[in-house]
Amino acid sequence: MAFTYFFRDSQTLELLLEQALPSLRGQAFIRIWDAGCAHGPEPFTLAMLLREVMSDFVFRNVRIHASDIDTQFGPQIAAGIYPEQEVKRIPEPIRRRYFRPAGAPGHVQVVDEIREKVTFVQHDLLSLKPIREDFSVAVCKNVLLHFDEAERRRVFGMFHESLRPGGFLATEHTQKMPQPLQALFEPLASYAQVFRRLDGPEARAVAHAPHSLPRASTVPQGLKRSHA
Ligand SMILES: C[S@@+](CC[C@H](N)C(=O)[O-])C[C@H]1O[C@@H](n2cnc3c(N)ncnc32)[C@H](O)[C@@H]1O
Repeated sequence: MAFTYFFRDSQTLELLLEQALPSLRGQAFIRIWDAGCAHGPEPFTLAMLLREVMSDFVFRNVRIHASDIDTQFGPQIAAGIYPEQEVKRIPEPIRRRYFRPAGAPGHVQVVDEIREKVTFVQHDLLSLKPIREDFSVAVCKNVLLHFDEAERRRVFGMFHESLRPGGFLATEHTQKMPQPLQALFEPLASYAQVFRRLDGPEARAVAHAPHSLPRASTVPQGLKRSHA
């Protein structure tokens, strides 16, 4: 199972949502893509963080599409069921609000209001085909580090395509935006990798210039994956 946990790097996720919130409030459909979601703690964390800051009225518009190349999310994860061990580090008030005892001993279940927001789907980022093209927010953390430079550029290009104009993207702190793609995304903080999609003439030129987004390696896509 991939390494991940609930509320991992919540500082970046909170910054992302704080930046995105003013525009999300006016959207009838708030679609969020969590790419490389492992067995689900990150997308459920996003739903909980959103629930904390959104009114009932706005939160009902949220849909989180959680994807991973591995189908680590069996029916138990789709049902939001985790061993107690996995949630013990979550601050008590949050744990009380968003988890309840599950049928199985030693397990807890994410409450329906949060669980219903997250849909899991298998998807290979190196297919370079976004799962939709109208996301308000995309999160891809601790995945890109396993790709080579050319693949990373193309995957960043794909995230640009997957977002609505002005949409937001977050990666992990150590993931720098490749220089040729800096016209596609505006950084929103110096201490976190949180970006807003740009759509000016410069961004259009980069997005449509294949030389700026070198082709991914020739390894067949189905065989290329990380073992994070
Ligand atoms: C370390 S986990 C990151 C989980 C979560 N995003 C986090 O930051 O805690 C990396 C995940 O990336 C997934 N992954 C690796 N290569 C991928 C690919 N080509 N397409 C989609 N997901 C991939 C792995 O299966 C794994 O679940």
